[in-house]
Amino acid sequence: MTEPKQDELMSHEFDGIQEFDNRLPNWWLYTLYGAIVFAVIYWLGFHTWGAWKMPHEQYELSMVAAAEAQLASMADQELTDEALQLMSTVPTSVEAGRAVFEQFCVACHLADGSGSVGPNLTDAYWIHGGQPMQILTTVTDGVPAMGMAAWGDQLGPIRVQQVVSYVLTLKGTHRPGKAPQGELEE
Ligand code: HEC
Repeated sequence: MTEPKQDELMSHEFDGIQEFDNRLPNWWLYTLYGAIVFAVIYWLGFHTWGAWKMPHEQYELSMVAAAEAQLASMADQELTDEALQLMSTVPTSVEAGRAVFEQFCVACHLADGSGSVGPNLTDAYWIHGGQPMQILTTVTDGVPAMGMAAWGDQLGPIRVQQVVSYVLTLKGTHRPGKAPQGELEE
């Protein structure tokens, strides 16, 4: 290989512009190599191994941590709509609730909550009210006359709260399914 000579004009010319074929300066080359190495590490670290979190993941994690801290500070207080709503943003609670729902509720409400024997839980219509504490009361006490069992004793308060937190994540997803029943929630 012959080394290109320094500052030797190449034979072509475009619109009066001519160029050298000089070796690129080291600072430029090392910047390029550095950027390639950085890109590989960045890609592996953020996207392949998940060793570092993307900003939106960091944001979600800190929102969950904040919700958990707030729930912990409310632990000795009476349960409220706000506390249940917070629980519906905490993955551990929602996942536990999903497991309860899949075991005990899908037979009548279907896995996506769109309803069969029981009403559609994803629409804006509620027979017994769609506010978190109203849902908790319906699940705890049931509507035995209509075929909805009282789950409070069988599941206990923690699992009832978890399943309600999961139902709150279904609420408003508007899955096509059983026709609306009850009142339109404002
Ligand atoms: C055997 C069938 C059946 C099972 C199992 C069942 N439900 Fe129901 N559910 C119903 C029926 C029927 C209603 C409607 C009651 C009425 O008409 O008043 C209902 C109503 C509800 C409502 C109130 C909906 C509204 O519009 O106000 C909620 C919330 C609910 N169920 C949650 C659950 C959860 C959570 C579980 C599992 C722990 C569950 N259900 C298990 C049959 C069932």
